[in-house]
Amino acid sequence: MSTQVTLIPGDGIGPSISAATVRIVDASGADITWDTQLAGMSAVARYGDPIPDATLDSIKRTKLALKGPLETPVGEGYRSINVALRKTFDLYANVRPAHTIVPGGRYENVDLVMIRENTEGLYVGVEHYIRVGDDPRAAAESVAIITRSGSERIVRYAFEYAVKHGRKKVTLVHKANILKFSQGLFLDTGRMVARDYAGTIEFEERIVDAMAMNLVLHPERFDVIVTTNLFGDILSDQISGLVGGLGLAPGANIGINGAIFEAVHGTAPDIAGKGVANPGAVVLAACMLLDHIGDHDRANRIRNALETTIREGKTVTRDLGGTATTDEFTDAVIAKL
Ligand code: NAI
Repeated sequence: MSTQVTLIPGDGIGPSISAATVRIVDASGADITWDTQLAGMSAVARYGDPIPDATLDSIKRTKLALKGPLETPVGEGYRSINVALRKTFDLYANVRPAHTIVPGGRYENVDLVMIRENTEGLYVGVEHYIRVGDDPRAAAESVAIITRSGSERIVRYAFEYAVKHGRKKVTLVHKANILKFSQGLFLDTGRMVARDYAGTIEFEERIVDAMAMNLVLHPERFDVIVTTNLFGDILSDQISGLVGGLGLAPGANIGINGAIFEAVHGTAPDIAGKGVANPGAVVLAACMLLDHIGDHDRANRIRNALETTIREGKTVTRDLGGTATTDEFTDAVIAKL
């Protein structure tokens, strides 16, 4: 049966790289029915709302979305896109894989997956100023909230991901030596979950500062990494840097009620409309979607076609050192499928 997927083309370069991705996925033979919906500035122009109910309703129905980059309008009266999506679908796991595609870079053989808790920690938005004397902003407090259930589900997600994707090891990253309560709860819960996978998936713990150094010295030693919200935010960009930046970085936001796949980069206003954007990150996000629905065969075929095209370097977009347009690059990938 055909899988229904909500397609949000997005703003700026979004529509052209999303169209390229749909061409590639369809050419692979994947049986997907796309339900195209608006979000971002294109939705503001049409409905006066950057995340219209029709788009949320579509994802509620399909439980799957492929999303192009969105321009978030600044100003009063607009709903935050990310907050609406995170709340509606309880998107608790942010998954960012990073592996070496083009040889000859700073590192070879990097193949990492960062799994970041997406709903708790220092990013819950519990913040306030404290008045001292006549200075209303003499101090500020931000509260980090870690729950046992939130920690358990993210660490379990990391282990289940490792099992499903044939990975060997989960590294839990924390700062429990200093933040004994919040990070301590995350670490204790993680250790408990790890026991369920003893003998199947190796488990190790790293303190975040040492982890930052180890990732630079020996990135090839790590496999699946799981951590809390703030550390995951920082380390996921670090691992993108280990494999050459955000240009080919896909990401997924996985929740109880839905899963949303996207490129990590933005709308690239400087090249929008010129037909030269690299669709690679959205294509790799679509491969994560195919993996998520169990179509590993087509996910792998598309990844191979894309990576071979990039490695050959003959028909690649400007950001990858070539002169090809989005369409020419897309045609080259399809020819390899
Ligand atoms: P950006 O990622 O859009 O662009 C940074 C640089 O990378 C630019 O020089 C751009 O041309 C280049 N670039 C990005 N994607 C590319 C691609 N596929 N092919 C070739 N070159 C590419 O970041 P920027 O300029 O900071 O943000 C622009 C807009 O995107 C903002 O409105 C921001 O809010 C939004 N944004 C949306 C995201 C999302 O929806 N997931 C994520 C990041 C930013």
